Amino acid sequence: MPRASTSEARLADHVDRLGLEHPPIDLDSVDFTVRRPRELAARFGHVLDYMARVELEVDRNVLELTTLLPDPPEIDRRFYAEVWQPQEIQHGLILDRLQVELGRAPAQPDRTSVGVKLRVLGALAHLDAFQDVCRMLYYLTGMATERSAVLAYNLLHAGVRELGEHAVADTLIAPIRRQEPGHFAFYQLSARALWAELAAWQRWLVRRMRRLSFAPVGANDAAQSADFGDVMRALGIDRDVDDFAAQVSRVESELLWAHRRGLAVPPYVVRAFREAAELAAVRRAA
Ligand SMILES: [Fe+2]
Ligand SMILES: [Fe+2]
Repeated sequence: MPRASTSEARLADHVDRLGLEHPPIDLDSVDFTVRRPRELAARFGHVLDYMARVELEVDRNVLELTTLLPDPPEIDRRFYAEVWQPQEIQHGLILDRLQVELGRAPAQPDRTSVGVKLRVLGALAHLDAFQDVCRMLYYLTGMATERSAVLAYNLLHAGVRELGEHAVADTLIAPIRRQEPGHFAFYQLSARALWAELAAWQRWLVRRMRRLSFAPVGANDAAQSADFGDVMRALGIDRDVDDFAAQVSRVESELLWAHRRGLAVPPYVVRAFREAAELAAVRRAA
């Protein structure tokens, strides 16, 4: 089989498997028993809130996606409509229910607004060659987002267990965490296959746009960036920002920046995470 159709077949298998093996998590399967709600809320309440918001904003991400990719490959549409969105929405609902059980206000996701920049890109994306640039950016964002999610859920799981809240750790965080690597794998397979097909000018444009637009997952403005900084602090990520940035951007470095030897982590990735930590520190001091 030629290379393109091999990777298409692998992707289709992957999406089928995700759909079969990972149905959206049933709210009734979660044990919300918490022994010390006040401690859990004080330590991780804002982390739950951030994650719930980001998970629930997949509704907006799908709107953005249909703006950005007016004519997506069928496998992308199947992935986001049949696998990804239904799973992520459940993650959001479950995390939000937990924070409400802890006595906190529910998350306030923005589920509908698509920014002007994206609309402009979407208009340009009617040109096929440009749509491929947008698709590549979408896969790169997907990889960074899902990898961040896996790392954050690992740390949250460990932290919640350390507090002795085993019901929540094992029936809520662990099942959510199990669904994220499959999302990452989808974006990784897609990104590798598409990168191999892009022309030099498309690759140049991807690098340039990525440098201008990279942000931590869910951080759409300075306040949300500071919120992410607080999440980093609660999870201990701020103690080794460079390592976190490296893990989040491993495949991106390999694909986009392979020609620059010694560039272990793209500087714009490290910068964005450091900035989030700094914004949070400034806000705390104020
Ligand atoms: Fe998720
Ligand atoms: Fe995910």
